[in-house]
Amino acid sequence: MFTRTSPSTGPGSPEVTGFYEKDTGSVMYVAACPETKKAALIDIVMDFDPEAGRTRLDSAQEVLDFVKAQGLDVVWVLDTHPHADHMMASAWLKEQTGAPNAIGEKVAEIADLWRDYYNMPDAFDAKRDFDRLFADGDTFTFGNVEARVMLSPGHTLGSITYVMGDAAFVHDTFMHVDVGTSRADFPGGTTQDLWNSLQAILALPDDTRLFVGHDYPPVKDREDPAWEATVAEHRANNPHLAGKSEAEFRKLRADRDKTLPLPDRMLHALQVNLRGGRLEPLECDGNFYFKIPANKF
Ligand SMILES: [Fe+2]
Repeated sequence: MFTRTSPSTGPGSPEVTGFYEKDTGSVMYVAACPETKKAALIDIVMDFDPEAGRTRLDSAQEVLDFVKAQGLDVVWVLDTHPHADHMMASAWLKEQTGAPNAIGEKVAEIADLWRDYYNMPDAFDAKRDFDRLFADGDTFTFGNVEARVMLSPGHTLGSITYVMGDAAFVHDTFMHVDVGTSRADFPGGTTQDLWNSLQAILALPDDTRLFVGHDYPPVKDREDPAWEATVAEHRANNPHLAGKSEAEFRKLRADRDKTLPLPDRMLHALQVNLRGGRLEPLECDGNFYFKIPANKF
């Protein structure tokens, strides 16, 4: 797997290693306190083969192998939002590491939307499937790194950004600085919310390292995936934002979203991710079955 490490810039600044999961173009992160070796995992993927309906944990295992090789102690299993393009390994990682798993508290409102799409009135209980549901402004620590939660909706209504020292995990708000921004057309998403979230992130200190959730190379002149740029770099060079008004951005974003197909895994993934990545409930033959609505999208 393609990986890259962004070094700590001093006490309270995490060392960040990104892992590129190429099937879905997702970037998974390990943020570690270099002094204490305490670490947080962010947006780790559970692999899924849509043709066979089969899940695998190869990517998540690769991240755990890295954690072990580095002598890190995982104390948080974090997600930024219930992802539409991939399944999340949160439940499995919680089991493997013993660390609490967490996501934003508005996952409950996202579940309300999807309960209707799936016609599963009793499905999804965020309080059961996550140990911690973060509100805007909540804080937590790992080692000497202080983390703060910023609500950053737009892509979904309940996405959160984790600001950890001079690093921020901005998920599907920004794309890499040579690409632009993320889509805002999923249920609960709006271009207005996304604009406000992007501006709030750009108000972080100039040298804040922003780590994005996805990349889909080849892009322009580069072959390798990329995911890190500073606030100052995005402000100066992000093609969706530099020199753009709110109205220009919202039109550009909405026009582009109309051209994008839905992610091929979306209907499979949401029903699993809204359960923290658990393949449950099992039917009487011991298997989990997906429920896919016809003609709703
Ligand atoms: Fe997403």
